[in-house]
Amino acid sequence: MSAIRKLTDWDELERLIHTNLGESEEVKVDRTKLLQHLLSRVRGQDDTATDIANLVCLQYARKSRDKPVCNLLLLGPTGTGKTEMAKAIAEYLFEDEKNMIRFDCSELSGTHSKDRLVGMPVGYVGAESGGQLTRPVMTNPKRVILFDEIEKAHPCVFDLLLQLLGEGRITEQGSGKTVDFTSCVIILTSNAQWEPLAAIKQENKNYHSMLNHMKSHLSDCSVFRPELMGRIDRIYIFDQLKKDVVAEIALMKIGKLAQSFSVQVEFVSPQLLLKALEANHKISRFGVRELERIIFDIFAPAFATAKQEKLAKVKLELKSDGSMMLRG
Ligand SMILES: Nc1ncnc2c1ncn2[C@@H]1O[C@H](COP(=O)(O)OP(=O)(O)OP(=O)(O)O)[C@@H](O)[C@H]1O
Ligand SMILES: [Mg+2]
Repeated sequence: MSAIRKLTDWDELERLIHTNLGESEEVKVDRTKLLQHLLSRVRGQDDTATDIANLVCLQYARKSRDKPVCNLLLLGPTGTGKTEMAKAIAEYLFEDEKNMIRFDCSELSGTHSKDRLVGMPVGYVGAESGGQLTRPVMTNPKRVILFDEIEKAHPCVFDLLLQLLGEGRITEQGSGKTVDFTSCVIILTSNAQWEPLAAIKQENKNYHSMLNHMKSHLSDCSVFRPELMGRIDRIYIFDQLKKDVVAEIALMKIGKLAQSFSVQVEFVSPQLLLKALEANHKISRFGVRELERIIFDIFAPAFATAKQEKLAKVKLELKSDGSMMLRG
């Protein structure tokens, strides 16, 4: 350690600078812009996006909080936009989706998971480097924290979560420093039980009765402990994607792929789009997990050709023999 590093506690200094030198000013959230941003990245989940935008704005309007900005549980089939929503929230509220910390809970299923999150206890190797959950929040407290496949986490992780979601504070084991999570948005995701929950969503038109039914169902079937359910602000069930929404997402992805070749797409014929959608439906049914790969396979060669031929803008169509026609 260099001499200057030893002269002060740099982690604590960084935290103090962050909270005291102007950077701690609460983010001013414009509800309409936040909603527009969420809708521009996540398609076909408009009710969820609207409710999240409302909730986040209400939370930011509060003078003080003694828990995270909000604790959300996102449930639904694979590839329907749960992680995408978390990234979109991080990008808007905290300027960059990189300000999201993601934990795959299937990797937090062992007894040592707690040490990974909040650091090794004093006296153990690595105790001074802190935990993967606590250390990044110590240096920048404005984060989205995402726990994917939450039902796979070890019970010791659930104990930590109770503290995180309830009090918004966790003490690091090695350093003994208390870390403040009250500027964080906490998101838990799961594929568990989404079908019965989707039925509860359909049956209950009253929001509070729906939320209570969902929480009771999740506690009754022992997926989540009731204490955890009590600390969740909202549960959202992500809908299966309708075919026209998948088409919209496909067009977004085609545009993005073209951009990576410095090409702009002006038109994609419906027949060609259908070819990609059929290939996706065979593999992912209602989700879009494989869509990006399928689109790459179908469209990347055409964009590479366009780049080679210096075509800045292209129109893509399907020829009668099944191959692609590229027009500049
Ligand atoms: N509703 C959606 N709107 C826009 N893009 C989407 C949507 N759903 C999925 N995608 C795209 O598909 C990919 C996978 O989506 P995402 O990671 O959000 O799925 P997920 O719901 O978190 O699935 P899992 O339960 O398997 O984690 C992302 O690249 C994303 O861009
Ligand atoms: Mg996900």
